[in-house]
Amino acid sequence: MWRLRTTDGEWAVKVLNRSREAWWMSDYRIAAQIEQTAWARAVAMPRPIHPVHPAAPLLADISVDGAVHSVRLHEWCAGQMLADAEPDVLRWVGGTLAALHALPVGLDVADAVVYEPHEPREWRQWLADAPDDVPAGFLAAVRAHLPDIARAKEIVDEDRAEIRDRLTPVYTHRDVKPDNVLLTTAGPVLVDWDGAGLDFAEWEVVRAALAFSRDGDGWHRRRFDHVLRTYQAVSGRQVPAVRACFVGVLRQQLMAAAFLLFRALGHRPVTPAERTEAYGHARELLADLRASLRHLPEWTGWLPATAWH
Ligand SMILES: Nc1ncnc2c1ncn2[C@@H]1O[C@H](COP(=O)(O)OP(=O)(O)O)[C@@H](O)[C@H]1O
Ligand SMILES: [Mg+2]
Repeated sequence: MWRLRTTDGEWAVKVLNRSREAWWMSDYRIAAQIEQTAWARAVAMPRPIHPVHPAAPLLADISVDGAVHSVRLHEWCAGQMLADAEPDVLRWVGGTLAALHALPVGLDVADAVVYEPHEPREWRQWLADAPDDVPAGFLAAVRAHLPDIARAKEIVDEDRAEIRDRLTPVYTHRDVKPDNVLLTTAGPVLVDWDGAGLDFAEWEVVRAALAFSRDGDGWHRRRFDHVLRTYQAVSGRQVPAVRACFVGVLRQQLMAAAFLLFRALGHRPVTPAERTEAYGHARELLADLRASLRHLPEWTGWLPATAWH
């Protein structure tokens, strides 16, 4: 992320770490459509800038020394990272999620491409085929998480019917967390829309509520409640008290860990520094996955039981 000053103003310039494959562009177009709808509906976010010669909506391809970079531009929002999640910020999160889940994005849920987490046997295969330059300690650490990976995948599969029958598909931001909120003098703004796409409303709410309720000591129910209750009040949607609401957390951790393992194994075009970073990051995500599995029953108890009608 670069901060660019021109005579017209200040701009946030983001060079995307993208892949030149068709699936990337079709996912990207969906993200840009969601972002533009959110902006038109006055969600608190930086103003997106339309390039003069777009490669796709809100995206410019710029050639530097023969290499093409995909760049996005937004108005710079002078603000601070969230230090601690205050109740008013937590209520803002709940209200913003409710607004996101009511956006008229105009995309058909049936057309969505849904990626599934990998099978445990694929993980075992990747580890078995690891190149010689990968530290043995790293491979052993990942191997120690194979039971967690298998259990998480099992839960994803066990809850499929419940997800289909009880949860609400929505096109939305998908990465609502403290890192992606800036506190400006006009209030909080939500940044980082490149990953927007199809999600379940309930998955996004509990992921966000957990992310904003976490500090160095763990997850705090009182903070979780602020997000959840505001969301339910503003959206009029009751989040059902079922484990299936947390399957989005497991899926996200499984898929992010697999992506980082791929980087760590050198299967993606990354720099040596990015590859080294991936060792630590993959282990962190797998530790989080283990913590999620342990907390799942407790977190499900945090969802208020549905009232009888
Ligand atoms: N429009 C903006 N104005 C000011 N700062 C921004 C803006 N957009 C993003 N940032 C800052 O840059 C950081 C990284 O941007 P983000 O889009 O979240 O990238 P990443 O994909 O790396 O998370 C954000 O966490 C935020 O602090
Ligand atoms: Mg971000």
